[in-house]
Amino acid sequence: MVGVSGASGTPYAAAVLRALFEAGESVDLIVSRAARLTILDETGMSFRDGHWQDDLAAWLGTPPGDVRYWPAGDLAAGPSSGSYPVRGLVVVPASTAACAGIAIGLSKDLLQRAAEVSLKERRRVVVVPRETPVTRSHLEHLITLHDAGAVVLPASPGFYGAGAGASAQQLVDFVAGKVLDALGVPHTLFRRWTGELNAN
Ligand SMILES: Cc1cc2nc3c(=O)[nH]c(=O)nc-3n(C[C@H](O)[C@H](O)[C@H](O)COP(=O)(O)O)c2cc1C
Repeated sequence: MVGVSGASGTPYAAAVLRALFEAGESVDLIVSRAARLTILDETGMSFRDGHWQDDLAAWLGTPPGDVRYWPAGDLAAGPSSGSYPVRGLVVVPASTAACAGIAIGLSKDLLQRAAEVSLKERRRVVVVPRETPVTRSHLEHLITLHDAGAVVLPASPGFYGAGAGASAQQLVDFVAGKVLDALGVPHTLFRRWTGELNAN
């Protein structure tokens, strides 16, 4: 399951979704209300519940694979229950608000509820915060998530592999690849470290 919350970094979400589809994974997708604003701001595209198929294909730049879309306001939707079958969940990007809400069990929308449910069911949960710098309370919420079993995976791209001329997409793909590693899904999003320095 992929939850997209309203932090900057929607290209990370798009890269994770494309890679999951390429790997043949079925995806349950939740896009928070605030994420519609960040998608609009960062891509110029609308993301509407009623047109999610077209909007998702336009956002990803490719027809999506096997996806089930859940409106974030639908707290009665399948993912609100632990009995709904989900192997793992990633919140990418994860707003500080989403991290806080999941950490304290606020469940203010389906994204937060689904994440909380995945934690209580001891499923694989990955959160990808982007905010910088951070306050003590941001850090405390991330520690709470870590202690509840989540992988806290900040959107901090590594520059090795792609080198000094790394493109923005390569840096995005680095973070997306780390997410897929954490979910246990194979990918070719970045070149793995082989122990050989890239000395020119
Ligand atoms: C254009 C834009 C960029 C934002 N960037 C961030 C961000 O990088 N990190 C963050 O934590 N919140 C960011 N916010 C604020 C969140 O959207 C806001 O806290 C919202 O309540 C998050 O709700 P959600 O967690 O339900 O998506 C941004 C908001 C907008 C409109």
